[in-house]
Amino acid sequence: MTTLTSYPFALLLDRLFDAAEASSPATSPAFAHVSSEERARLMRSKTEYRDFYGQLKDFPLAVSRETGQLLYMLARSTGARTIVEFGTSFGISTLHLAAALRDNGGGRVITSEFEPSKVARARENLTAGGLIDLVEIREGDALQTLSVDLPDRIDLLLLDGAKALYPEILSLVESRLRPGAFIVADNADYSPDYLAIVRAPSKGYMSTPFGGDVELSMRLGECPPMF
Ligand SMILES: C[S@@+](CC[C@H](N)C(=O)[O-])C[C@H]1O[C@@H](n2cnc3c(N)ncnc32)[C@H](O)[C@@H]1O
Repeated sequence: MTTLTSYPFALLLDRLFDAAEASSPATSPAFAHVSSEERARLMRSKTEYRDFYGQLKDFPLAVSRETGQLLYMLARSTGARTIVEFGTSFGISTLHLAAALRDNGGGRVITSEFEPSKVARARENLTAGGLIDLVEIREGDALQTLSVDLPDRIDLLLLDGAKALYPEILSLVESRLRPGAFIVADNADYSPDYLAIVRAPSKGYMSTPFGGDVELSMRLGECPPMF
């Protein structure tokens, strides 16, 4: 048995995913006037992300169920204790990460979100899932909130906020990533600069596209014993 599959946690996740799948900006009348080209441009913008995500504040925009499971498995298999997440939204991915920490015996997820209403929703969901004690939600722009007070060693990084900022967020965290740490970057195709870093042999990562939505990368270096 895992926290992820336990009752009533699994029901909570199922309900949140059902709601997320039923509420996509792509099919919402509120976004019918925004062309797919304009959406793609906004997804890549380094200057308009605050306004763009403000318009999306009522949408969960969650990772897929498969990516959620992948996050749980990576965090479990590496015995993760410290996890950083860029982009909390309603906390669906955070629930998977914190569930893995619970099953690993404890730890901390530091997650960042600038929409106050989303921070409140995430807090509610993590409380309902019984995992809020493992999560520190930093409210504000991650460029600031993840630039201070990070643990010395980070075992896993999830990049799922504004895509254009992936290189900047990686550079804030990079020196603390332990050798063997995984970085999961959702929809990284919108960030060619990020892909250029993690795929360059000289930059210290091994990286591969995975499952359609994700770029999965591993920090290279000599791995310390895990336990
Ligand atoms: C794709 S959603 C995250 C989904 C979440 N990881 C999940 O699977 O449940 C992206 C979130 O990142 C937030 N965000 C985007 N850029 C940000 C930034 N620079 N700082 C903090 N939050 C940001 C958005 O408001 C949005 O809620």
